[in-house]
Amino acid sequence: MTDPQRSDPRTESVPRARIDELLAGMSLEEKAGQLSQYFYFGAPDAAVGEAPQAHGEVEEVLARGGAGSLLFMTDPAEINRMQRLAVEGSRHGIPVLFGFDVIHGLRTVFPVPIAMAASWDPETIERGQAVAARESRAVGLHWTFAPMVDIARDPRWGRIVEGAGEDPYLGAAVAAAQVRGFQGDHLGAPERVIAGPKHFAGYGAAVGGRDYDEVNLSDAELWNVYFPPFQAALAAGAGNVMTAYMDLNGIPASGNHWLFTEVLRGRWGFDGFVVSDANAVRNLVTHGFAVDLADAAARGVNVGVDLEMAMTDPAYSHLPEAVERGDVSIEAVDACVRRVLEAKLRLGLFEEPYVDVDRARTVLADPAHREVARVAAERSAVLLRNEGDLLPLDPASLASVAVVGALADSKRDTLGPWVFDFDLDETVTVLAGLQDRLGGSTEVRYAPGIRPAQRKFPSMFDMFPGNTPPDPENFDDEAELQRAVDLARTSDLAIVVVGEWQQMIGEAASRSSLELPGRQLELLQAVVATGTPVVLLLLNGRPLDLRWAVEHVPAILDIWYPGSQGGTAVANLLLGDATPGGKLPFAWPRTVGQVPINYAHTTSHEPVNQARRYWDEESTPLFPFGYGLSYARFGYADLVLDALELNRDQSLTASVTVTNTSDRDGDEVVQLYLHQRHGSASRPVRELKGFRRIHLEAGASETVEFGIGPDELRYWNAAVRDFVLDASTFDVWVGGDSTAQLTTTFTTTGQ
Ligand code: NOJ
Repeated sequence: MTDPQRSDPRTESVPRARIDELLAGMSLEEKAGQLSQYFYFGAPDAAVGEAPQAHGEVEEVLARGGAGSLLFMTDPAEINRMQRLAVEGSRHGIPVLFGFDVIHGLRTVFPVPIAMAASWDPETIERGQAVAARESRAVGLHWTFAPMVDIARDPRWGRIVEGAGEDPYLGAAVAAAQVRGFQGDHLGAPERVIAGPKHFAGYGAAVGGRDYDEVNLSDAELWNVYFPPFQAALAAGAGNVMTAYMDLNGIPASGNHWLFTEVLRGRWGFDGFVVSDANAVRNLVTHGFAVDLADAAARGVNVGVDLEMAMTDPAYSHLPEAVERGDVSIEAVDACVRRVLEAKLRLGLFEEPYVDVDRARTVLADPAHREVARVAAERSAVLLRNEGDLLPLDPASLASVAVVGALADSKRDTLGPWVFDFDLDETVTVLAGLQDRLGGSTEVRYAPGIRPAQRKFPSMFDMFPGNTPPDPENFDDEAELQRAVDLARTSDLAIVVVGEWQQMIGEAASRSSLELPGRQLELLQAVVATGTPVVLLLLNGRPLDLRWAVEHVPAILDIWYPGSQGGTAVANLLLGDATPGGKLPFAWPRTVGQVPINYAHTTSHEPVNQARRYWDEESTPLFPFGYGLSYARFGYADLVLDALELNRDQSLTASVTVTNTSDRDGDEVVQLYLHQRHGSASRPVRELKGFRRIHLEAGASETVEFGIGPDELRYWNAAVRDFVLDASTFDVWVGGDSTAQLTTTFTTTGQ
């Protein structure tokens, strides 16, 4: 999986002559075709339900050069078949670019992205996406619609699970790591795919957390919070960017001149290709922005949306009409075609359009990939509570364990949302992992307790088999609840698994509440009432209301949706073969009414009452951003800065000594926060500006250093409408979460 050293893709010579030659021979209809991406769900007998595009239609379109790209195919033989239609059947033989949502793995499923972010471990993230890229490229995919780098500060929004949480600094680090993993060191690297950070921009701020609804964000929020992960992804070389569905400040993002022309291409110099989100160009009409599809197509091309992803016939097929009307120039269309062709040329598709089906099988079965997924699941888990050091468990003292909760035994839910090509046979559930690990000496008994909860409105992913939680007909609710309670009462320990079924989170999976769906809280309460010690495991992609649990359950481990090897990882964590070291990538609210509750807020009148802004509930989070326990304990000392005053170009180094004060080895995520005390704007009370995950053996110490310079100190200022670096005093805190206490200060001269 190593790439030969190559130069920066953005400065490599572009095969212009070849592109000119192709363009010269193409009709306007063929150009429009190159700019159209069609959904294709495989042959008509594929197990999915109604496909949006008729199969014969896509094949016919391909053969006349009417599609530049397809999405949603993962079968290498089918990919070859469709590729052949384009390469051998169409007039210019331009190969198809195959794209897919490879969000957290293809065959090997990794923990969901929010979990990977909770590892605070860019190397693990990069390694995971490199595996995903290897599997994807092996089956014939060239491009993933990932990473999703949208900042999410409202957990009602279901797509929080696909991102890195609330923080721009962590989000930027995670975005860059994913791009490096997917793409390698240049676009077209062997065994890698093009990365497409999405959704540009602001999609995570949907009003009310309601997916697709409008977003209103100030420029300061865009520049300081929502843009940095995109900038980091582009700096890491991402070859593609996807647009967003919603209106941004009243202008549809997918037709937003400022976003794409001024910021993305103008200010940031992005020269890769832009794809619309599915149907988002057609939606320019839905928004009440474009008058008709030809107008929508013109507006898309005019802002530089090169490729239109279309669930039904693309608006871009109306480009000839738009050109005729004078709404868009041939030159603008050509510029889009150039960028699409360039991606194909860089990937070497003209030379090697097909894929080796036998090799694909071998790559997908590579056991080394499963190992990477297991380690990722172990490194993503966040230990939220561990009263009396209940964890790790000592199997010698456990004659019997009750595993309670239907999620413990659900393969599909162990994987999480946004996966389609998984292998359930090799998916290890929590129950299977524990049975495997404890089975010899400890009796492991299981009871679901309650039937799976159901959505009030169906999921758009229900067309995929097995996506909907089962609703067993002969399930006697009261008897099952009682059976779970009896099992817990007669066991030495109860492991209760609760959370959200995977189709309750993700796209079009917003919620109006953060409570445990269904009767799960009741089940937990009944098990706790038995007096048997309880370990609570959470399967989730958003924070849930745990107010009762933190008062009554001694141990809580957030395992997110841990992926193919989840159960094995969980068993290792519970038994102490692995030590939790993940940290929360968002502040965990107590209740939905506190949302949004990001840690990097500014303050105002009566900050002493910051925790009492509501009269009926604390206004602090249940767990702070960056929080997570370990079986080890860590101490922080000697926070030293090597300079106390900086002028505008200078940097300083902060160093701190971290000691593992316990008798267990473990990982700590050392975090650095800054606060600007005064200046030309009010600044957040704290902002993450550095972190490192380190491993410390029992009793060991390490000195960790962080650089602080213009990149950490500058911010976009609404008064001057540009970036500034103020003369000010800065507080520095270093510690294991966003409430770190070890502190010092330095000043900047602003000169
Ligand atoms: C719509 C989603 O918003 C986007 O993230 C995804 O890549 C496309 N559908 C394709 O599945």
